[in-house]
Amino acid sequence: MTPLKMLEFYSGIGGMHYAATLADWDFEVVKAFDINNVANDIYKHNFGPKTVGQRQIEALTLEYYDKVAADIWTMSPPCQPYSRLGLQKGSQDARSRSFLHLLQVLEGMKNRPKYILVENVKGFEESDSRDLLVDSLNRCNYTFQEFLLTPLQLGIPNSRMRYYLLAKQKPLSFVQPPTNTILGFIPKSTHMSTEFIDNRTRTLDNEDALVALSAVQIGSVSRYLEPEATVNFDSHAIPDKTLLKHGHVFDIVKPSTHRSCCFTKGYYHYAEATGSILQMNEDLLTAETFDKAAEAKNKGNEQEALELLRSLRLRYFTPREVANLMGFPDTFTFPDSSTIKQRYRTLGNSINVRLVSELMSYLMKTPNKS
Ligand SMILES: C[S@@+](CC[C@H](N)C(=O)[O-])C[C@H]1O[C@@H](n2cnc3c(N)ncnc32)[C@H](O)[C@@H]1O
Repeated sequence: MTPLKMLEFYSGIGGMHYAATLADWDFEVVKAFDINNVANDIYKHNFGPKTVGQRQIEALTLEYYDKVAADIWTMSPPCQPYSRLGLQKGSQDARSRSFLHLLQVLEGMKNRPKYILVENVKGFEESDSRDLLVDSLNRCNYTFQEFLLTPLQLGIPNSRMRYYLLAKQKPLSFVQPPTNTILGFIPKSTHMSTEFIDNRTRTLDNEDALVALSAVQIGSVSRYLEPEATVNFDSHAIPDKTLLKHGHVFDIVKPSTHRSCCFTKGYYHYAEATGSILQMNEDLLTAETFDKAAEAKNKGNEQEALELLRSLRLRYFTPREVANLMGFPDTFTFPDSSTIKQRYRTLGNSINVRLVSELMSYLMKTPNKS
């Protein structure tokens, strides 16, 4: 059989490519499109220079897509138009133009993809872009299922609640008939709890409740860390100025902790809500130490405050550790030319490879060969 032809839109550092490999798909990426040259260099470094297309997706015509006649489209369009931290302008935001272009192309095509996978932030499901996507899929004769899922459900100690949509061109069908609701689990997944939880009723802050409901044991952060002796503590330590000024807003976890928060592209740049910080000194109580430091600072004793905070041995997760939590294989590496900021930024934009590979396996299952 000839491998399935895949077009990887918004390919970034190739999360979808890795996920398809992990899902054991028989596939070939015909083209991986992205406009970000840093991400493209990382993609090329890992997969070779040929597949990357440094192009604006909206610049490619219907004729091009029909000629390629790909079997699979994967898409993780920019999330800023839908993010709860943004203005949530949806389709009115210029950054959703390329996605709307793809929907238009899909409607006009003769050789439509058999399979489509869309990934975006939680919030996308309430946007007008999601409604336009669903309308296009209906007009183009697809069957589809939507999901809201987090890697915690696979036992990975990292939050990353995301929206996913899987679509198949009829008469292809899913193992479990689509529900017309947003599923909170992957049917038939042997790695995920199967009780039905309608995510529409849940908020992001309720992810802990989901973990409590899950039948899956969540591993500790330590499993995802590089050996301590190989990490240069000083180059990942939190600078003194940041410790004193912003230390109290960090989300701090220890190697023995069974959770960490979502790593975003702002990690390393902003202190709050961009990803967890590691406390390497497991013996000290975090809150108590911060209270003591605040007391010292209030008394004008900044040096004592700093020494107390330093004793926690706080450091950033290394890019490799973030990649581990996001399910990237050991073979994934960065080119030497990429800076640490670029590494965090591109990882923060990417996907959880293991979770997406579970979805990809489900996408290929058919009712008779499940
Ligand atoms: C959410 S990230 C996707 C990351 C990717 N899934 C990965 O594994 O790294 C969105 C990507 O879309 C790219 N992008 C945004 N607008 C684009 C456009 N009009 N044409 C091509 N790429 C675009 C950005 O450069 C960014 O890398």
